[in-house]
Amino acid sequence: MPKKRFWVLADCQPFSMLYRGAVKYRSSIANHFFLFGICMHPTIAVETAFEALIDGIVDRHFAVLDGFLSELEVVSLRSSFEQKLEDGAFHRAGIGQGEQHTRDAEFRGDLIHWLDRSTALPTGQAFLDRMDGFVSYLNRTCYTGLNGYEFHYAVYPTGTFYKRHLDQFHQDDHRRYSVICYLNDNWQPEDGGELVIYHPDGDVVIEPLGGRVVFFESALLEHEVLPARRDRYSLTGWLRR
Ligand code: OGA
Ligand code: MN
Repeated sequence: MPKKRFWVLADCQPFSMLYRGAVKYRSSIANHFFLFGICMHPTIAVETAFEALIDGIVDRHFAVLDGFLSELEVVSLRSSFEQKLEDGAFHRAGIGQGEQHTRDAEFRGDLIHWLDRSTALPTGQAFLDRMDGFVSYLNRTCYTGLNGYEFHYAVYPTGTFYKRHLDQFHQDDHRRYSVICYLNDNWQPEDGGELVIYHPDGDVVIEPLGGRVVFFESALLEHEVLPARRDRYSLTGWLRR
């Protein structure tokens, strides 16, 4: 990904260390600093977060960032999520595309609901606004040529998982970047459900902590979701070209 502009604000240091340093991502004081930063300076912090995500892609094809969604946003998105669940708006997710599309619980066990701007609740719409901002920021600063996205809520009921896979389809390379935001409350190590990224430099294990975002190149990195021992909530999507 070529980058037009490059700067790292002094402010940015705690969380850039976060995703460059450790391979196991767990909450730390630095994350809370960032959370605080978002509350205090929303406009600056949003662009700073975009920069941190882009730096991750430039350095290692993925980024993990805590506090991308504030605690308030997580709570409010989870409540829209639960509303849609109650409305029966979720269905079993499938594998593949077109004629190849199948549903196989041995491979993936999540239930999904596609976000649609016209029917999304206000908090879902605000999230899509943030993604509009991210797409235009990427296009402006990195010439990514993105022209859309698709997002769904996903719940992995207790005991379910998603085996190792790549997000790009064989016959369709429109999905360029994967974006996964976690909406879990007080997720503990014993709850399982980690995302494992099979990176050429070594496997990366990421806990699905509320407010955390994972951003990676859809065509490059295989990954899997380990069995969740508690219902696991996320908002997942792809930036497209
Ligand atoms: C996916 C996926 C990972 C996660 O939906 O394709 O890999 O951590 N999700 O939820
Ligand atoms: Mn995936």
